[in-house]
Amino acid sequence: MYESVYIFLLLLLWSCYLRTIADERELFCYNQDGERVCGGDEFLHLTRIDGKEVGTVHKLYVDGRNLEMTTLSLQPLILEIPNMLTDEECDHFISVAKQEGLKDSSTGKNGGDNTFNILDLDDNKQLNILEMRITIENAFDVYLTDEDILQMYIHTGIDKNGDGNITQEELGRLRPAEMERYIKKFAHFQPEKQSRYSQQAWLYPDKSVDKTFSQVQERVSEVINLPIDVVRLSNFQIVKYGVKGHYNAHHDSSRVDDSIPCCERFDTRQCRVCRYMTILFYLNDVEEGGATAFVLSENDTFATNQVEFSEQVNLYRKCSDAKIRVKPSKGKAIMWYNHFIDHKTKWMGPMDLQTLHGGCPVIKGEKWIANFWLRPTDDRKHDIERIKIMRYKMPRKPKTEL
Ligand code: OGA
Ligand code: FE2
Repeated sequence: MYESVYIFLLLLLWSCYLRTIADERELFCYNQDGERVCGGDEFLHLTRIDGKEVGTVHKLYVDGRNLEMTTLSLQPLILEIPNMLTDEECDHFISVAKQEGLKDSSTGKNGGDNTFNILDLDDNKQLNILEMRITIENAFDVYLTDEDILQMYIHTGIDKNGDGNITQEELGRLRPAEMERYIKKFAHFQPEKQSRYSQQAWLYPDKSVDKTFSQVQERVSEVINLPIDVVRLSNFQIVKYGVKGHYNAHHDSSRVDDSIPCCERFDTRQCRVCRYMTILFYLNDVEEGGATAFVLSENDTFATNQVEFSEQVNLYRKCSDAKIRVKPSKGKAIMWYNHFIDHKTKWMGPMDLQTLHGGCPVIKGEKWIANFWLRPTDDRKHDIERIKIMRYKMPRKPKTEL
């Protein structure tokens, strides 16, 4: 008799225990004033580290290691953590990328539909060399010099009267498809003139059971104080640059536009890239060059969309003009927020245009980085659904290497 009561009580305790673990998995947890505070869906919000002032060092004890987070800049907010990854973790990511196979990077803006915008900025019905350069940059993401453009005029015979200006009638002599073929061939022989010259591999942490990935995700979650589920809404890209490898200045995310949805993985709809935050890890020491450059700083009050057409974005040639340059160093991470927080929704708000950045050319050696892009969108409700689906699909315990 006593025995069955005893067994019944044991079973009751066991089921309570199981429910507690299950419930904790459903919660979103944050550190608030040194305490761990958890809550349900309504508690979920985005956070932003307070950089205080340039040079502020914030000491952290994470994952059994002492780390120091330094504020490099306030506008945009850039934070740096040396040794965020161990040497072994860096080597591991490089070898996983090699195993996956690296492919030439593209910016997704490589023509292809035989149409492009003619940027006649002064509206005088002809293109001078500057306007032709910007038209080509905008359409194909290939950055020609003035000499390259004059060469193109000679090779294609488009500039009939040879005055360096292309009228509508002269432009009509070169069909868009022919222009595209010319530029593609040019970029094939001079790949360093592309806006991005590198190779990359995509890795999907939520699909993998890689122990190192899971550990790094947990570490990131603690450092930036966002629940692990939000960190898991991320993409991980490993990039390799050789000599001359670079990435001209760009934004990692896009401006909020309610008429276009944020892209989901393998999306085929018309969509825009939404990345709340970038965490960039340097996976090796670069012999020379390869800094990460931020083109704008707090003093730049001029319209930030003006800069998109200026030579400043051409980091391949103008890296030394950039306001902030971060030198690669194995294991170091830099982080910045591509978006502000919308104070009403406590979720993703407008893009921070000041985050315009890129990679300076590598002069000697190789440069390996890992981009860790946090992917909440501007639709909080939909993100909660994505998290729930992911929780359901997640392998519970990382067991084996990738
Ligand atoms: C990127 C990027 C900077 C760098 O890959 O999006 O901005 O230093 N890279 O390579
Ligand atoms: Fe970037």
